[in-house]
Amino acid sequence: MSADNLGELNRKHMNDVGESAFKQQWIVDLGNQITAYILAHLEWLGTPPNKTEKPMKLLDYACGNGLISKALLPHVSTIRGIDVSDKMVDLYNSPARTNNADMSAIQADLLAPTDAMLDALIKGEYSDFDIAVTSMALHHFADPQLMLTKLVERLAIGGRILVIDWANEAVADWPAEGVLKEAGLGDVRHTLNDSVFTEKSVVELLKGAGCREAEFVLCPETSKLPGVFGEKRLFFGLGTK
Ligand SMILES: C[S@@+](CC[C@H](N)C(=O)[O-])C[C@H]1O[C@@H](n2cnc3c(N)ncnc32)[C@H](O)[C@@H]1O
Repeated sequence: MSADNLGELNRKHMNDVGESAFKQQWIVDLGNQITAYILAHLEWLGTPPNKTEKPMKLLDYACGNGLISKALLPHVSTIRGIDVSDKMVDLYNSPARTNNADMSAIQADLLAPTDAMLDALIKGEYSDFDIAVTSMALHHFADPQLMLTKLVERLAIGGRILVIDWANEAVADWPAEGVLKEAGLGDVRHTLNDSVFTEKSVVELLKGAGCREAEFVLCPETSKLPGVFGEKRLFFGLGTK
C-alpha cells in the first residue's frame, strides 16, 4: 500500500468513526493505562516534573484528539500535534482542550506531505523537539521505518522519541471486520499495516531512524479488550537521538 493511500484511508476512517471510537469504554481504559504509565516514568522520558524547570517542546504525532498532549501538558511548555484526520485535528484544537496553552495541531501526513502541509509545518515551528511521541499509530503507517526516521529528524540532538503500540501482535490478523465493528472500531482492517512489533524490531526501527540508544519495555499489566480480543500487552519503545 502506498503512503498516500494508507494515510488517506486512515484520514477517512478516523473522520468517520474516530470520535465515537474514543468514547468506547475499553478505549478510555486503554488511554488511562497509557497515561498512567507515562506519568509514572517522566524521568525516563527526560521530562521534568513541572514545566517551570526547563522549557520542553513536545511533538504528538498521530495525536488523535490529544491523549498524550493532555497527559504531558502540565510538564512541557510547548506542544505541537499532527494528525492525518482533519476531524481529529479539529477536536484537538477545541478551546476546551488547548485551554490557553501553547498547544496546537495541524493536519499532515509526514509520509505524503502536500505543499500546504510542508508550509504549515514550517510556520508552526515543527522542528527541534525535545520529545516526540507516537501512541497507538505505528500499526497504521505504510512505512513505520520511514515514519520514525521523519520523526527523529524533527528532534533536537539528545531529544527522545517514545513509541507506544501492541507488542508481538500482527494487528492486521485480528478478528474479522464484524468483530472489530462490534468493538466500536468500524471497518478498521484496511487502515492497518502487517508489522509485528517485537523487542528486536522496535530497537532496530529506532536505531534505523537515527537514535543512538534505544530500549523496549513491556507494560507490566495487560490491557483488557472486548470479547474475542482478550488480553493484549502494550510496549513502550524509547529512543535517544
Ligand atoms: C488509534 S489512534 C491513536 C490516537 C492517539 N495517538 C492516542 O493514543 O489516543 C491513531 C491515530 O493515527 C492517525 N494516523 C493514522 N495514520 C496517520 C498518518 N499517516 N499520519 C498522521 N496521522 C495518522 C489517525 O488519524 C488516528 O488519529
